[in-house]
Amino acid sequence: MKKPRIGIIGAGGMANYHVPGFQKAGAAVVAIADVKLEAALACAEKFGVPRVYPTVDEMLRKEKLDAVSVITPNKFHKPLVLKALAAGLHVFCEKPPALNAKEAAQMAAAAKKVGKTLMFDFNNRARPESFAMKKAIDKGLVGKINSAQALWIRRTGIPGFGGWFTTKALSGGGPVIDLLHMIDLALHFMDYPEPAWALANIYGDFMGDKRFKGPWGIPDRKDGVCDVESAAHGLVTFKNGATLFLRNSWAEMNKREEVSVTFQGSKAGGLVRRLFGVDGHDETAEDTCELYFQDKKGGRADKTLAVSKDEAMGRIRAAENFVKTLQGREKPLNVPEEAVKLMKIIDAVYASARRQAPVRIR
Ligand SMILES: NC(=O)c1ccc[n+]([C@@H]2O[C@H](COP(=O)([O-])OP(=O)(O)OC[C@H]3O[C@@H](n4cnc5c(N)ncnc54)[C@H](O)[C@@H]3O)[C@@H](O)[C@H]2O)c1
Repeated sequence: MKKPRIGIIGAGGMANYHVPGFQKAGAAVVAIADVKLEAALACAEKFGVPRVYPTVDEMLRKEKLDAVSVITPNKFHKPLVLKALAAGLHVFCEKPPALNAKEAAQMAAAAKKVGKTLMFDFNNRARPESFAMKKAIDKGLVGKINSAQALWIRRTGIPGFGGWFTTKALSGGGPVIDLLHMIDLALHFMDYPEPAWALANIYGDFMGDKRFKGPWGIPDRKDGVCDVESAAHGLVTFKNGATLFLRNSWAEMNKREEVSVTFQGSKAGGLVRRLFGVDGHDETAEDTCELYFQDKKGGRADKTLAVSKDEAMGRIRAAENFVKTLQGREKPLNVPEEAVKLMKIIDAVYASARRQAPVRIR
């Protein structure tokens, strides 16, 4: 498929990365559907997309598409992905894959049944740092990864009060599910082992406190719901003996926003990290991509992996990868089975916090 014809579903913030990513890889973005037609029109004008629709059904009926991109609030991922697959289309879907593992498994099964590509926007895998680190791991430089620590921690990063992000029925949860990227990246580095147990707690401090709201996100809604966590801390063990520690927060007393995966392997350790200056502002961000070795004489032989800067944090490159996968030019950066495993871990984090006990992951 040389020039896939793609339709966009949802013209909000993330469409600004999907559309240019698809276009850069040589796809034709032919239409945008959004329940808010004015959002679709603004996005279409910005990126030169010829047609807009107020409903997905109308777009699917009138356009000859090869694929769609689902960029809506999380609750709508499953029904829209199933609809698109049933219409015989390939699908790129924003993260989180779904509200829970059951939904993700239904989506994976549907893609398999119709033989179409289903990928999710785990864009942090598409950062230059992540490509470089995965290459080093695949070359055997790190050995077996025994343990990893995944952090996406903010101080003042609640994305608006009462909007869909803070409404569990629409989002599936707070920062555990919203900022799942570093958990996914750690698992990607560890070769997605089979999870065994989770032990975790979630916290709700600072929810509703405007001093902890991020500088982006959606406007507060007085009549809206705010029933998700503001922070989570947990431990996951795997059937191969590995361990993952996770910390995710929108609002917590941290010095600065940190987005990182650290790991300890049998031959080397490593770190991929972005430190933001102030939550949501990139100007003072510091990136690190390092491997830690001990040389034959017992000295340190640490290595900084040289990579280019990517302020989009892989968001455009991940969309390119979807198109290049359809074109047969690249391997997919993720497969649906990984999304199901990731959602099982997230379900178990919430279940452990609810039950105040370790939870077995099956
Ligand atoms: N990968 C990342 O870095 C990243 C960053 C932010 C958000 N996201 C994810 O992207 C998705 C969208 O987030 P956003 O920030 O762009 O949201 P947003 O609220 O800015 O935009 C969502 C758009 O979807 C439209 N919409 C809602 N339901 C629809 C439907 N049924 N059919 C058609 N259009 C519909 C809305 O009108 C809105 O314009 C979410 O799943 C979110 O988790 C990912």
